[in-house]
Amino acid sequence: MVAVSQPNHRVARNFANIYTPPRMAGNFAGKHVVTVEQFDRADLERLFAATFRIRERVRRNDLTLLDIAAGRVMATLFFEASTRTDMSFQAAMLRLGGEVIATSGGVQFSSVYKGENLADTVRAVGCYADVVVLRHPDVGSSFEAAYYLDRLGQQLGRTPVVISGGDGIGEHPSQALLDLFTIIDSKNDLTGKQVTMVGDLRNGRTVHSLSKLLARYDGAGVTLNFVSPDALRMPDYILDDLAAKGITVRETDNLYDVIGSSDVIYWTRIQEERFADRADYEAIADRFIMTPDVMEHAKADAILMHPLPRKHEMGTQDDHDILDADPRSIYFRQMENGMFVRMVLLALTLGATDL
Ligand code: NCD
Repeated sequence: MVAVSQPNHRVARNFANIYTPPRMAGNFAGKHVVTVEQFDRADLERLFAATFRIRERVRRNDLTLLDIAAGRVMATLFFEASTRTDMSFQAAMLRLGGEVIATSGGVQFSSVYKGENLADTVRAVGCYADVVVLRHPDVGSSFEAAYYLDRLGQQLGRTPVVISGGDGIGEHPSQALLDLFTIIDSKNDLTGKQVTMVGDLRNGRTVHSLSKLLARYDGAGVTLNFVSPDALRMPDYILDDLAAKGITVRETDNLYDVIGSSDVIYWTRIQEERFADRADYEAIADRFIMTPDVMEHAKADAILMHPLPRKHEMGTQDDHDILDADPRSIYFRQMENGMFVRMVLLALTLGATDL
């Protein structure tokens, strides 16, 4: 959180047990987006095909895009800091011709800070908007929002959709969708590829969602390499899911075991804000630092990704400048792709059919 105190409530119930998100199963219209588990392989292929088309339309300044969400309203509700997710969703909605609302002055001026719970705040926002983008520090908060928006829908006769912008250390579905789109955009195909995720795999929600999505590519011979200090390993529930799907997983705390064979190197920030004890953070904060020297060990056609923001885990600003000039560094394209993927997600959940 930046300059905002934590909301004075926590999720009291485990909404993952109370609310089951619908599968997309070829039809995104009116469906909340709270976990990547809602998407099967065909849904991903549909979403990515539409993203290629929408990217091309944005690039040629096709103003008929503005008809897609004309008259529709998206509300943003961000209880954690964000630049990319917040602004790319806003830009996506504006480029589709929709409108965007948020509490004036930011969520610190929402009634949550008078003690209102999330269930009520999200329903208030749902009264005004067609789609709510929620980022919240509690795991499962987007499930809670979906549950209460469905209940609100019974009263209003229309159900606003929630799209998760990240729920604590849980998931970040739209980020994983844009990450996977970027991998496919760069590599065409995942067959036989090695995807290496490095850093805070315990607390990083982007790597949780991306791993679950890559599990959809069983049969493609994808190998996942997880590189982290022991204390920041990928959670067991995700490792179990990958094992059940037959995906090859290698865990190591030595980057040099895998960097030379990696096709995709996905670097992450140590999630400082998730550590209860500062000493625990400091003990591992400098463990994995990507620098131009480290990148020399990577394949000539590898791609280097990062969800950003980046800090010292990508070295100094001079290191950033050198890394950014390396054609293998694609994190700014990844970022731009985020807007295109979110345009498609918004358009499809709002009911567009001809993307
Ligand atoms: C990530 C997040 O918020 O989980 N950022 C993002 O959405 N692009 C990664 C991070 O904060 O490290």
